[in-house]
Amino acid sequence: MAVTPQKLIQYKQQGRRITVLTAADYLFAQIMDQAGVDVVLVGDSLAMVTLGYDTTLPVTLEEMLHHAKAVRRGVKQALLVVDLPFLSYQVSLSQAIESAGRILKETGAGGVKLEGGYPAIIDTVAALVQTGMPVLGHIGLTPQAVRRLGYRQQGTTPEAGEQLLAEAIALEQAGAFAIVLEHIPDHVAATISQKLSIPTIGIGAGPDCDGQVLVTADLLGLSDWRPPFAKAYANLRETVQGAVEDFCRDIREGQFPPSSPKG
Ligand code: KIV
Repeated sequence: MAVTPQKLIQYKQQGRRITVLTAADYLFAQIMDQAGVDVVLVGDSLAMVTLGYDTTLPVTLEEMLHHAKAVRRGVKQALLVVDLPFLSYQVSLSQAIESAGRILKETGAGGVKLEGGYPAIIDTVAALVQTGMPVLGHIGLTPQAVRRLGYRQQGTTPEAGEQLLAEAIALEQAGAFAIVLEHIPDHVAATISQKLSIPTIGIGAGPDCDGQVLVTADLLGLSDWRPPFAKAYANLRETVQGAVEDFCRDIREGQFPPSSPKG
């Protein structure tokens, strides 16, 4: 049975931890889906990881749609969620509904994610939910606000922690089905997770969230840099580079391909 937003809420009630990984192409999406991840996220981190930009700001809605369509072809069981990129939802409620609607209509995704918890975003989440679109919230370190906030940990003072809790509660009341908590103190994430009925998905937010998300390039050790809170479960960068070096050596030394058998 395919994973749905409602199922994620049930997982929280059952105490079953939720797994989320990012994907930007068909091949990795298919591997993740077959490995049993609960949610495949076409995150706008693909701007940096896949497209080579310095931040997530330049990626466009068209580019997100392009990647999400490829990922969709690989995902059969997991819930597919797609990020609304910078300036595809902040301008007006109608812009947000049109952008999110395009994602759901054109990619077959089961939900959209957007960043922020300030009042205007709460209204946007409520409008999307009322239009019938499942929404995953994202607060704490929000990379689309990098120019204002940098990549610093958020919620580090008691007042800022209280503010995050208030934003999380407002997102739940607006109808979000889950919330990503990025790079905030463990105790703030634990309090938010305990107060909400919807699941929290942590990244750099400690062990007490209801689920965890990683950028897949970090998990696989493919990135040339990864944040301190990401764990590499493999060192594929070294493996891939070694394979390419072996190939180049074999060709240059005439070791590959071998001669075809006669006849
Ligand atoms: O864009 C992304 O990959 C994300 C995750 C890190 C949550 O938003």
